[in-house]
Amino acid sequence: MISKKDRLFNLSTKHTSYLFAITETGHLEHLYYGRLLSNPTLSIDALAEKRSLNIGTSTAYDSDNPTLYLTNLCMEYSTMGKGDYRECSVNIEYSRGMQTLDFIVKSFRILPGKPRTFSGLPESYGDKSTCTTLEITLKETSLPLRMALTYTVFEDSDVITRRATIYNDGTNSVRIKGLASAQLDLDADDWNLVTFDGAWARERYMNERPMLPGIYINDSKTGVSSADHNPCIFLKKDDGECIGMNLVYSGNHRELVEVSPYGKIRVMTGINPATFSWDLSPQDRFQSPEAVLTYSHQGMNGASQNFHHFINNHIVRGTWKLRERPVLINNWEATYFNFNEDKLLNLAKESADLGIELFVLDDGWFGLRNDDTTSLGDWTVNPKKLPSGLAGLSLEVHRLGMMFGLWVEPEMVSIESQLYKKHPDWMIAIPGRRPSVGRNQYILDLSRQEVRDHLFKNLSETWHLADVNYIKWDMNRVFSDIYSANAEIRNHGEFFHRYVLGLYDLLDRLTKAFPNVLFESCASGGNRFDLGMLCYMSQTWTSDNTDALCRLYIQEGTSCGYPLSTMGSHVSTSPNHQTLRRTDLEARFNVAAFGVLGYELDITKLKGQQKEAIRSQIAFYKAHRSLLQYGNFTRIKLANSHSNQVVWAVASHDKSELLVLFAQKLNLPNPGADKLRVEAVDLNAVYEVFPRQQKIDIKMFGDLLNRVSPVPITEGGLAQDTISKAISLESEIEHYRVSGEQVAYGGIKLNQQFGGTGYDAMTRVLGDFGNRIYIFKKINLESK
Ligand code: DGJ
Repeated sequence: MISKKDRLFNLSTKHTSYLFAITETGHLEHLYYGRLLSNPTLSIDALAEKRSLNIGTSTAYDSDNPTLYLTNLCMEYSTMGKGDYRECSVNIEYSRGMQTLDFIVKSFRILPGKPRTFSGLPESYGDKSTCTTLEITLKETSLPLRMALTYTVFEDSDVITRRATIYNDGTNSVRIKGLASAQLDLDADDWNLVTFDGAWARERYMNERPMLPGIYINDSKTGVSSADHNPCIFLKKDDGECIGMNLVYSGNHRELVEVSPYGKIRVMTGINPATFSWDLSPQDRFQSPEAVLTYSHQGMNGASQNFHHFINNHIVRGTWKLRERPVLINNWEATYFNFNEDKLLNLAKESADLGIELFVLDDGWFGLRNDDTTSLGDWTVNPKKLPSGLAGLSLEVHRLGMMFGLWVEPEMVSIESQLYKKHPDWMIAIPGRRPSVGRNQYILDLSRQEVRDHLFKNLSETWHLADVNYIKWDMNRVFSDIYSANAEIRNHGEFFHRYVLGLYDLLDRLTKAFPNVLFESCASGGNRFDLGMLCYMSQTWTSDNTDALCRLYIQEGTSCGYPLSTMGSHVSTSPNHQTLRRTDLEARFNVAAFGVLGYELDITKLKGQQKEAIRSQIAFYKAHRSLLQYGNFTRIKLANSHSNQVVWAVASHDKSELLVLFAQKLNLPNPGADKLRVEAVDLNAVYEVFPRQQKIDIKMFGDLLNRVSPVPITEGGLAQDTISKAISLESEIEHYRVSGEQVAYGGIKLNQQFGGTGYDAMTRVLGDFGNRIYIFKKINLESK
């Protein structure tokens, strides 16, 4: 709901209020973002900044307003030159480098739903039953410039989105040097900033620090949203207050947090000004990407759940919106580049037999691509590897009752390729300068229409031919040597944004041309996990790292901003290809199940027990898929803490069923009791609680097997290997009937873990990196 009374704008969702007011000078003073206020007009004076005194050396707005110090005001946007000395959200250079600006409110309108905008950028969507939009127009006091601040309130998600638009109404060009999508000024209090940082194979590890006076920047300059610093951030306080911010954008972004000398905290998000400038022609307009804000008094879990609801309902669109995602097999770690039709079909057959629904052919099927040095850009099948072509392979896969998926990396070109020979100038490089290189490859200039037209035609033909049901869109290097022959680019500060606009244009055309295809975006794993990509592609490959321990950190961090339905999670082989860590097959599944499940290993090489384990994993996943992809997810114990344990829960919306992951990092000797305390239950209900039955590899017991075996078994020997493939133990028997209150307030003390002193059918054998999934089922007491 949005309303305006006198000077006050009131934006409210189911549980939150966002208030700001027009000052006597026409600026917008931010007053409040927090829990729902049922009567906000009562409190306007209490919330506003008091300004009866002069402040030392500060600059007053003007002589008519000698105590209005913009630098000590919480504002909805900010400019330079009128006394606000913090980082500003709007920075435009006009005549001879001048940058002083002053925007004053002129008008506003409140619109039902969310009108489509004109920017070529992806954005959230909703109709008048789910959202309302406020557009405020501001005018620069002495220049022919206008600014629109747009707010859309998504009541059902407790989310408000924001964007800014600059209009040049004059006759001279101006240069936009920075335009934040949103600025939020609050009292500094004791906010901590949470960011998600990392690199390849360790994406989005959660980091938290207190915010002290000064400036903190979370950004990307790589050209993509990056694994270095994800655009999603949170501000949180110990009392549970939490504000989340994210950006619907896939390029260079910046989130700036400044704590000022006057005890205020300013948070901004938007395109990174460090790599951006835009020449705005007369009568033209420039629109920022959309920022997404949420508030919860229930900490990061509450704020994350708001984001999850928002993304599932207002970002992801089309056929796969809110639809259960298929379990897939990907041949990458099973074969890398070394495959042929027979190998792939064997893999597909085994997969179909185990219940897998989608076969994905990864890198290496095209041109002369037998390693990563060649052929990017030549999207035609390699007949040596696939004599029946993509169509033949796809037909066989479809005959097995599976969907067929294909990997592509369209934004790239190899020097060793037909495409490069034909169009060397399509590659991003500066004439006369030797370009830097990443993974032996270079980037195509997607800011150019002819490059996009070529890709659209080439990819569409291939995808039709291959009758694809799924596309994995990869992107394995980031930008360098910025230069474009695109005549539209007036200064190269525009390049990164124009590239992103070009990418979105291509994705828009392709996803419209293939509306039923499930798209998964990928960038060397999760190097471009953002809301922009999710507007086109319903899921994202979370990380190349599928190690069960690392994934606790990676999925935990990712889940803060993004729902489980968007997180590709695969079970791969052990030792893991990225960490060489050995983890149990069941442990790998239990973690991967909290996402969109896939397998990425050569299952044709697995023996009886392992295949049976996978078969029952898949059956379990399918039986609980809607819960695991769309349930309410809560992080109970964090991997990213000193705790040796990690606990996650996913609950159905009516709380009748929950799945709870209990994981440990290391096995402790002679351990104390493990406790399962879950607050996300129905307090008035009674639940049956029991662990998913899983196999225990007898190899875990090592030499101890000799205590019970009639024949000697050497650790690591053939006998041990053979027995382990043929026989395994069932996991412990454990079963409770408990009240919701008991689980939420007290917790369940679980069976003892193996501690070196004995073993029976009740003993929980987890080992290093071990885990269990506990099933909570609400009992209908009346029918019993
Ligand atoms: C990087 C991706 O993250 C992997 O899953 C795989 O598709 C490779 N690229 C293929 O080159």
